[in-house]
Amino acid sequence: MYFTSLKADGFRNLKSVDLSFSEQFMFFLGENGSGKTSVLEALYFLSHAKSFRVSNLKKLISNSADEFSLFSCLGSDAGTSKIGVSRSSSGRQKIKYNGDVLSGIASVSKDVPVQFLDTDAHRCFADAPSNRRKFLDWGVFHVEHSYSRSWQSYQKVLRQRNAMLKFGSSEDEMSAWTSQLAELGDIITENRSVYVDGFIDVFNSVWVELMPSMELPQIEFSKGWVGDNLLGSLLSCSDQDRRFGYTTCGPHRCDLKIFTDGAEVFDYYSQGQQKALTYALKVAQGIYLKKLTGREVVYLIDDLPAELDNIRLSAVLELLANHASQVFITAIEKKDSFDFVGQGSACFDVTDGFVKSI
Ligand SMILES: Nc1ncnc2c1ncn2[C@@H]1O[C@H](COP(=O)(O)OP(=O)(O)OP(=O)(O)O)[C@@H](O)[C@H]1O
Ligand SMILES: [Mg+2]
Repeated sequence: MYFTSLKADGFRNLKSVDLSFSEQFMFFLGENGSGKTSVLEALYFLSHAKSFRVSNLKKLISNSADEFSLFSCLGSDAGTSKIGVSRSSSGRQKIKYNGDVLSGIASVSKDVPVQFLDTDAHRCFADAPSNRRKFLDWGVFHVEHSYSRSWQSYQKVLRQRNAMLKFGSSEDEMSAWTSQLAELGDIITENRSVYVDGFIDVFNSVWVELMPSMELPQIEFSKGWVGDNLLGSLLSCSDQDRRFGYTTCGPHRCDLKIFTDGAEVFDYYSQGQQKALTYALKVAQGIYLKKLTGREVVYLIDDLPAELDNIRLSAVLELLANHASQVFITAIEKKDSFDFVGQGSACFDVTDGFVKSI
């Protein structure tokens, strides 16, 4: 599904936004502090009920309001849907999806898969394995229905086992938790491994399309433990785990490593090349999702031109034009490369929180 409209009241600095989206590309142009990222944040909130920049959701409510409300009509080949979310300064949140009041947003997140990319996206990828795990888990969550339940149960059991390790419990005392952890961990690893196997082929073709003159990077799935079964691995790490006071092996330590010429790409590529790689990974994830489920990803891209030269910028836009159904892009000013997607695009001016079509 994709967004065909956005209404926002009391959200950040935005002033009663009421917009329609009918093109593949929507460009939001304006000065620093005008409200561009806030528009993307509003769209993101509608599918995630959280922000990509703050965990304290009170900060999303306009300084001059007690609550915010967001509303969007969603389109797809199968028909239209409506999503509305409001949140007050007391923390009361209401999610209404096609007339039904929901207690959580997971079903909307599934129906409207959204990928957010900002100027830090590639740095996050480079910095921490946890961000690469998040990338991988986003993909598996959207194709494997039981995945988030397995992952949540795994986290719960892991917390229990870690608490017992801190307390100095023996392996015998922990055995029930260890077995449960192994059982859930094997399922998670199997889901991830199947996903990565299929994903690599898609990524390879996207890479050739985006960076034809650069060597293809190798993606390697490191599952977070060694051996054929997790139970054996957990038992052999048991003494070490007790020494450290936490579980040192398992899918919570998994990583997605990317190499070129034997070196990890994020230690080797320039900032612009890392950014292009991140786009290749995210677009490949969208193509793969569509292939497996028929669902299309909406891309929210904050400050696309930053750190990309004109050739790379045009190449990224061409890639998105070929494979993405809907793309929202912010930039301080219009770039010549934006004309590349000319016919399928709409431009919006953002000034002091007012957003209007231009
Ligand atoms: N809760 C809030 N109420 C009112 N204004 C807010 C609130 N939170 C943030 N702002 C202000 O909203 C403005 C817009 O922020 P936003 O990050 O959307 O700007 P931007 O157009 O993306 O700018 P930049 O080009 O610098 O990234 C900022 O001036 C910010 O200080
Ligand atoms: Mg911004």
